[in-house]
Amino acid sequence: MELNDEINRRRTFAIISHPDAGKTTLTEKLLLFGGAIHVAGAVKSNKIRKTVTSDFLEIEKQRGISVATSVMTFDYNGKRINILDTPGHKDFAEDTYRTLTAVDSVILVVDSAKGVEEQTRKLMEVCRMRATPVMIFINKMDRDGKDPFDLLEELEQELKIATCPFTWPIGNGVNFKGVYNLYRKSIQVYSPQKSNKSEILINSTDIDDPKLREHIGQKMINNLWEEIDMVSDLFDSFHNNLYAEGYLAPVFFGSALNNFGVLELLENFLEIAPHPLNAAAHERLIKPSEETFAGFIFKIHANLDLNHRNRIAFLRVCSGKFERNKLYYHTRLNKKMRFSSPAAFLARSKNTIDEAFPGDVIGLYDTGNLKIGDTLTEGEMLHIKGIPSFSPEILKEVVNRNPLKTKQLEKGVRQLTDEGLAQLFIQQPGNRKIIGTVGELQYDVIKYRLEHEYGAKCDFQVLPFVKACWITSQNKKKLNEIIQRRAGLIAYDKSNTPVFLAESDWMLKIVKEAHPEVEFHSTSELLKE
Ligand code: G4P
Repeated sequence: MELNDEINRRRTFAIISHPDAGKTTLTEKLLLFGGAIHVAGAVKSNKIRKTVTSDFLEIEKQRGISVATSVMTFDYNGKRINILDTPGHKDFAEDTYRTLTAVDSVILVVDSAKGVEEQTRKLMEVCRMRATPVMIFINKMDRDGKDPFDLLEELEQELKIATCPFTWPIGNGVNFKGVYNLYRKSIQVYSPQKSNKSEILINSTDIDDPKLREHIGQKMINNLWEEIDMVSDLFDSFHNNLYAEGYLAPVFFGSALNNFGVLELLENFLEIAPHPLNAAAHERLIKPSEETFAGFIFKIHANLDLNHRNRIAFLRVCSGKFERNKLYYHTRLNKKMRFSSPAAFLARSKNTIDEAFPGDVIGLYDTGNLKIGDTLTEGEMLHIKGIPSFSPEILKEVVNRNPLKTKQLEKGVRQLTDEGLAQLFIQQPGNRKIIGTVGELQYDVIKYRLEHEYGAKCDFQVLPFVKACWITSQNKKKLNEIIQRRAGLIAYDKSNTPVFLAESDWMLKIVKEAHPEVEFHSTSELLKE
């Protein structure tokens, strides 16, 4: 197959949601359609996590939450689908944000009864920042939820995105019967009993189909036509370019658990979702169809095997063809590297692959050369951008509990923060190590992993800061001035960029006013723009 055909058939995306909205259940149903798994019966979400997602970390098993981000690949109707899984727990939000740099679009799952929730809002902000195309699946229509019109209004207002319903629910709660596809003008009515393989009772483009009346009754039919008339009055029709630019979200209704409306979602998604897009490097734009290979690392799992201390770096292919055993150029280290056993992730298993194409995500075994954000090419000096660190909201100092293991602690803290689990800031004098995260749970994970993987013990001392902002200025003198005047509130990140540690939002405001020539950034990526 030609490179362009390989690119055109790929869809690389993430399913994102506030925890419990049904992300895992929807992922599972998509995998069932793709034949990637064959589990009959409603599968519990934690069960599917164990069988489908990678099970790399001991801690993941122990806690039963998906700490790791993994990839699920399958083929459906000639398309190659790469779903990048994101951790459901909000404390691992940064991991999710980073994964969003490696996808071309997202499916956002919303609970029909809860509507927009905290994580929905935050995830959408990240999508907006990157102009990622968003498709929305309103889930749990089998439960008594909000009115669909109210939900769409809420989505538009809270998420600041225009919506365009593609399907419309026929009834809701116990009376949820199926969906009407507004574009294909077709009706799907499902079997009423809860089952994993929901049966489609009616799949028709004939709105006068007598079976329809038999199954849903005249009253519901009348109601549906009334609502559909309202939809066409209230909503603009679909424009692919508005969707592609992240301004307009096609909306689908359904019930992932009952497999209602999921096939509609998948088939429409494959039709309109973008194939691999251009990647922006600091030097130039990279097109997927370029002959030469380029890709970047967006995720690292360290210490897969404690005896060998290896790690796996997840690389997204951006252009050309990646080939096993070929020499590639690591642009940050200015060095050549060869990968003898790159892995692809086919549902449950990892397989060594010989080649990969734009949109694919592969795992590269590494002994410490690769970091999040690194670019690999065939020789050109490129640095792919868009892998930000986000301003942490919780900051704690690392306190060594075993002075004999100081070296191990140092190494562990460096390596775990290289993985992107948390951010490391150093404050002088005294080389104080401050760990910044967006969630409390990461401290437990770091403590556990330092102990089990590095044999080091530590405690975390809470610091009175609520935010760390990167600071820059065109005026070197002014930057030095704030660094000297606020020395107790300044630390440095791993690349030696100064950060300001704010004790409160109010205090941050005062300091910003006092130093008008200094810029305060809440993501590290902005520094390089
Ligand atoms: P998440 O990954 O977004 O966190 O959500 P997950 O799929 O784990 O779903 C959260 C809960 O919502 C699960 O119930 C799941 O069964 C349920 N759920 C998902 N989709 C639907 C739906 O369409 N309708 C209804 N009624 N429920 C749905 P649980 O009780 O937490 O777990 P389980 O024991 O049922 O697996």
